[in-house]
Amino acid sequence: MLNIGIIGATAYTSLELIKILLRHPEVKISFLGVRRTDRPKISDIFPSLQGQIELPCNSIQEKEVPDNLDVAFITLPPTISMKYVPHFIQKGIKAIDFSADYRFQDSALYEKWYKARHTDSTGITKAVYGLPELFRDKIKNTQLTANPGCYTTATILALAPLLAKGLIEPDDIIVDAKSGVSGKGREAREDTHYCECNENTEAYAVGGHRHSPEIEHILSTQTGKSVSIQFVPHLIPMNRGILCTIYCNPKIRTGASALNDEAALNIYREFYQKEPFIRLKENNTLPKTKDVSHTNFCDIAVKVTEKRIVILSAIDNLIKGAAGQAVQNMNVMCGFKEETGLK
Ligand SMILES: NC(=O)c1ccc[n+]([C@@H]2O[C@H](COP(=O)([O-])OP(=O)(O)OC[C@H]3O[C@@H](n4cnc5c(N)ncnc54)[C@H](OP(=O)(O)O)[C@@H]3O)[C@@H](O)[C@H]2O)c1
Repeated sequence: MLNIGIIGATAYTSLELIKILLRHPEVKISFLGVRRTDRPKISDIFPSLQGQIELPCNSIQEKEVPDNLDVAFITLPPTISMKYVPHFIQKGIKAIDFSADYRFQDSALYEKWYKARHTDSTGITKAVYGLPELFRDKIKNTQLTANPGCYTTATILALAPLLAKGLIEPDDIIVDAKSGVSGKGREAREDTHYCECNENTEAYAVGGHRHSPEIEHILSTQTGKSVSIQFVPHLIPMNRGILCTIYCNPKIRTGASALNDEAALNIYREFYQKEPFIRLKENNTLPKTKDVSHTNFCDIAVKVTEKRIVILSAIDNLIKGAAGQAVQNMNVMCGFKEETGLK
């Protein structure tokens, strides 16, 4: 049994993580770290956990890290995470960070978008981007995994097969993305108040969302081409789920080499043939957030229209977009079967 710690146990993503880890046969949650100092039981914070785990939470204010952990999940916000991650790394503990602090290997790019100095220059260069479908071999051997963002997971998984084959223009891609409100976290904010987001749909951060450079950075690194996207996220009135509709231009439009629906789908079938969490939609069915809710699946469809190729992907932002993907990464890092605890 591996001993697991969660740093930031009061987060939405931590609740999902705890639920998954409780049904994982190879691990035991032994430390829950929170910023408050009154040592609440986790079931007092999340009453749905009552009767399943009664562990008290410890304060992380002193940054004292227990020695007996095998894996630590850090579910703190960006710029806060990097203050904690190095303590685990120094003690030889495997760490999986949920924030953006280790997702860019380039600290200048991070600092431009997160408006903060990166204080762990060693960690940022050593961390591996935790998208197992693309980087499994590197994740196997790393001590520090940067769990991807939720929009980025849905977008990268949708685009990677066609970009890898060089079949779409890499610099003319439009990503129209919609997310449920839990994507913005549990902390109270004006735009996530019930009266603000209920019965409302709106775009936000047009041209300035921080997942945009993450998508471009990872896809450019992976394909060796300069990938450029126009990313527009929307907040929609549901609790969880992400749907991305992605518009791209095929490199070849006419003739025998031009893609049709079946040829495009075959590329995805081949690219993801061994992936346990990718489901391709066929026979004119399309991804829906309901179909992936509370699961670690990413559902993908690809359609070749007269004008563009349209790719659709759906995930649960809290599971494949966060906690489920983190456990998938832990399974890879620790040599467990990748689906353990997740299916
Ligand atoms: N929500 C998603 O769908 C999603 C998806 C992918 C990745 N992520 C990333 O996962 C992480 C957690 O996200 P979330 O949505 O679960 O967050 P959340 O519900 O808003 O919770 C944030 C957590 O961070 C703690 N925290 C905030 N500021 C802190 C500080 N200065 N010092 C110590 N602790 C602090 C909070 O503690 P208190 O309870 O004391 O405030 C809480 O435990 C973030 O990095 C986020 O970007 C989230």
